[in-house]
Amino acid sequence: MRRLLFLILPQLLATGTCDTSLGPQQEGKHEGEMLSHWSYEDQNWGKDYPLCNGNAQSPINIDTGKATVDKELPSITFEGYNLKETEQLDLSNNGHTVQLSLPDSMSISRGFKQKYLASQLHFHWGSDTSPGAEHTVDGTQYAAEMHIVHFAAKYESLANAAQEADGLAVLAILFQVGAQDNKNYKHIFDKLQDAVEGATIKIPGFDINTLLPSQLYRFFRYNGSLTTPPCFQTVTWTVFNETVLISQVQLDKLKTSLKTGHRTLDSNFRQVQPLNRRIVFASFSSLTSSRRIGDTLAVIFGTLFGCTALAFAIYVLKQKRQRSNAERGQKVIYKPAATMES
Ligand SMILES: *[C@@H]1O[C@H](CO)[C@@H](O)[C@H](O)[C@H]1NC(C)=O
Ligand SMILES: *[C@@H]1O[C@H](CO)[C@@H](O)[C@H](O)[C@H]1NC(C)=O
Repeated sequence: MRRLLFLILPQLLATGTCDTSLGPQQEGKHEGEMLSHWSYEDQNWGKDYPLCNGNAQSPINIDTGKATVDKELPSITFEGYNLKETEQLDLSNNGHTVQLSLPDSMSISRGFKQKYLASQLHFHWGSDTSPGAEHTVDGTQYAAEMHIVHFAAKYESLANAAQEADGLAVLAILFQVGAQDNKNYKHIFDKLQDAVEGATIKIPGFDINTLLPSQLYRFFRYNGSLTTPPCFQTVTWTVFNETVLISQVQLDKLKTSLKTGHRTLDSNFRQVQPLNRRIVFASFSSLTSSRRIGDTLAVIFGTLFGCTALAFAIYVLKQKRQRSNAERGQKVIYKPAATMES
């Protein structure tokens, strides 16, 4: 076990990623062969990476009905996410995903008990026959998923933080297909075809905030693991409830642009793992936001309608009374015609 981690850690340091244990360059080399030999087709990773058999693995299915509502969970606030164009980011295809490096000047300033710094973001997707998100919600697998990986500032690097219980915070964004291209993702998706396996291309910095959903206060939170070997159980997961829309064309680009070896890099998602005794928290109750707004509108319109009906009833009654007064030959002070015009 110790030896295994010893072999893996230098790779984490070298590639600056916790997403792959070994860079593609190592594939096929003798010492690295056994360790690098993991794939999404055979997800029995526990043989070579025992931690993958742990009892707090990711991804999971989120059962929204069983989630524990905790409205004290603070909404997430970012700092430095709006990157300057002069800041060059590395986009690379490591054979398991496409990954964008992020500078540690980007951080989550509020939302956790401690500060987390950004390291990279990457994607998980399906194939022409299957969606490819990792987390499922009430059994639904969404089209694709993005992970923004952060490490606790106190550990100073991703490699140091990766094995600490509170070391990592990963934000998960689920994608659905919408009618239009999501222009915020063009920075990344327009470059996918250039991301040859093992190579790194540069893309100019942009506002990473634009990749996120708008309701950052609605999310699920649980303790889990990396979704790739070595499966360290050191991730505090945040899965946003609001999905982000991308077009079918953009999703197809993700599914078909990248190659690993001679094949298309697709279906790079791990199967959902048992929840075991873990609790999933929700920062909201299902009756908030859209449904609550709907209820409020119903009350407002109901009240307005009620008032109008009451006013009309009073008017009708007054009319009746005046008519009967007039019939009895009493002096009419009130002129119904004038009332009707007003
Ligand atoms: C995650 O684990 C830590 C340490 O055991 C605990 O304090 C925290 O409440 C857990 N968080 C969740 C979301 O379960
Ligand atoms: C968002 O939350 C609602 C209410 O719990 C749930 O019905 C819906 O499936 C959730 N969607 C996602 C993508 O989390």
